[in-house]
Amino acid sequence: MADKKEIVLSGIRSTGNLHLGNYYGALSKFVRMQDDYDCNFFIADLHALTTNPDPRELHANVKNILAEYLAAGIDPEKSTIFIQSDVPEIAEMYLLLNMHVGIGELMRTASFKDKARKALGIGVPAQGDDDEAFEKEIIGAATNKRVNAGLLTYPTLMAVDILIQKAHKVPVGKDQEQHLELTRRFARRFNSFYGVELFPEPANFDFGGKPVKVPGLDGSGKMGKSEGNCLYLIDDEKTLRKKVMRAVTDEGPKEPNSPVSQPVQNLFDLMELTSAPDVVQHFKDAYADCSIRYGDLKKQLAEDILKVTLPIRERILDIRNDDAYIGRVLRRGAEEAREPASRFPQALWNCWWRFPFLSRFGGSILQIPPPPSLREPHGYTCPRPYGSSPLLFFPPYRGF
Ligand code: ADP
Ligand code: TRP
Repeated sequence: MADKKEIVLSGIRSTGNLHLGNYYGALSKFVRMQDDYDCNFFIADLHALTTNPDPRELHANVKNILAEYLAAGIDPEKSTIFIQSDVPEIAEMYLLLNMHVGIGELMRTASFKDKARKALGIGVPAQGDDDEAFEKEIIGAATNKRVNAGLLTYPTLMAVDILIQKAHKVPVGKDQEQHLELTRRFARRFNSFYGVELFPEPANFDFGGKPVKVPGLDGSGKMGKSEGNCLYLIDDEKTLRKKVMRAVTDEGPKEPNSPVSQPVQNLFDLMELTSAPDVVQHFKDAYADCSIRYGDLKKQLAEDILKVTLPIRERILDIRNDDAYIGRVLRRGAEEAREPASRFPQALWNCWWRFPFLSRFGGSILQIPPPPSLREPHGYTCPRPYGSSPLLFFPPYRGF
């Protein structure tokens, strides 16, 4: 029998169009993994709810990201592509897993602190992180400035996405490492609490090199939606050229072999991702001997980025117009994703009912084998049809 492929799972929140950072940091990796792994890629629409988006925007974003996944080369014949809320067992397991998660560990998560501070309109303290003041701010916040509980339990939901598919590899950027660490901790805790080996511990995945960080063009660190400095896959030629030509630079090197400033380094970094090595070298040499003209560099960079993005843009526009195709991909993906996921609520309830006493005596130490239903598919299928989750599915959520 052929070796079973390892399971890969990753997702992107439906909070806006995908940009070059998402492409090089996540999407292009997804595409490259498809032949060697059992791949599952989804659109994290429930996670997007944690920032209370306008429902109409959420709906449009889900469709757009799906079109962007497909246009970038994720192939529904090779990978399972689905929408998170099409798998209602995720919401169910999220409730169950939350019973094993501490609010302290959630409150210490960097992404929570970041988003909570944004929601409350408070800055990061100048001197280190003041947990006590932060907690007071949250508890005492006026209701119009609330930090919603979904934001706090974001890592539980992400852990469920991963664990419910029993994923081994999770290709994500560096910023998601802490969430992955929590996922491993929750998996261990759950397995040991019930004395079972239900969940594997997932690891990040990269193709050997160091994780890519795509810089912004405004001289700042990272390209990101909330930074407002993105080159989008859907940008048309004129828009994209304009953005690149406006990129922040400096006055240029005055002496041979001068150190490179951050904004100019960002342009070189982008070039490394998109241009041929001899082109990059040409501009680096020109920088070193002070003959560089940033206008020429930007023109070349825009050209090379467009070679990557324009064909994707054309496919996005085609796919967005093909609701029948989108519908077929989603129906198939929902069925495929629900197949393993539908076993879990039952498996978890089995743990709960069969071994409520074990935890008190250290279930894992007793080494009692789990019942067959926890190890094998046991034929349980959730009676609900996909897409019936009451969470989001008021009309007209899906026009496809
Ligand atoms: P954003 O920061 O624009 O809101 P997301 O948080 O939705 O993007 O990220 C989705 C995926 O894309 C994650 O795996 C993340 O690590 C990756 N990603 C986002 N921005 C970048 C970037 N500038 N460089 C590399 N990877 C990125
Ligand atoms: N938190 C991830 C992000 O912001 C998105 C995400 C949600 C995810 N669930 C996931 C990524 C499960 C990988 C696996 O980018």
